[in-house]
Amino acid sequence: MLNIALFGPPGCGKGTQSKMLVEKYGLTYISTGDLLRKEIAANTELGIKAKIIIDKGGLVGDDLVVKLIEKHVENNHAQGILFDGFPRTHVQCYILDGILADMKSSLTVMINLEVPENILMQRMLERSKISGRSDDNETVIKMRFKEYQEKTLPVVEFYQRQNKVHTINGVGTVEEIAQRIQNVIESI
Ligand code: AP5
Ligand code: MG
Repeated sequence: MLNIALFGPPGCGKGTQSKMLVEKYGLTYISTGDLLRKEIAANTELGIKAKIIIDKGGLVGDDLVVKLIEKHVENNHAQGILFDGFPRTHVQCYILDGILADMKSSLTVMINLEVPENILMQRMLERSKISGRSDDNETVIKMRFKEYQEKTLPVVEFYQRQNKVHTINGVGTVEEIAQRIQNVIESI
């Protein structure tokens, strides 16, 4: 299995690059952000709880994320899984490792996309014109950055200790970044 975690701050291009990776390598796509937005749209109990936090730019609690993952991850991913926006906390690293161990597999690589905050802000404010995402406004984006710095960045160290992190410059055209990611995957 080729199991990839696409990692990086809000707006760094995880969703954009996921499309290419899923197609090229035939992976199952799991984006906790997309799954949470689906739960919100369906007005489920989980969605209602998550919305309150997402609208403020906080991280949804690990207990809810566990429930979300249990609901959506099945044990039949022959080629591999692409995780977008998960894991985002230390606890979630252990959850991920457990899920993959149950499949007699493990994380192949964590791709860490680096983009400066001023560019991230520009990208998300531009997207806000069409995205309809309640968390795409300046105040909430600043809170998302803060949560990322405090709770999510330590995840990199967790996988660095396993020598699984490849950091990539996420500034450039979508195609340039896709090529950088492919180069990493082909070199593994
Ligand atoms: P989530 O949906 O994961 O959002 P995020 O991490 O904040 O990132 P985005 O989806 O905003 O950006 P992206 O990196 O996918 O970039 P994109 O490709 O869209 O999470 C949302 C919320 O849900 C969280 O705040 C949290 O509350 C909760 N949540 C989710 N997962 C969780 C978890 N595991 N634990 C706890 N809580 C969780 O690109 C951004 C924009 O830039 C687009 O408009 C795109 O077209 C453009 N763009 C992309 N690449 C380029 C480029 N190279 N050049 C120019 N523009 C570009
Ligand atoms: Mg996304």
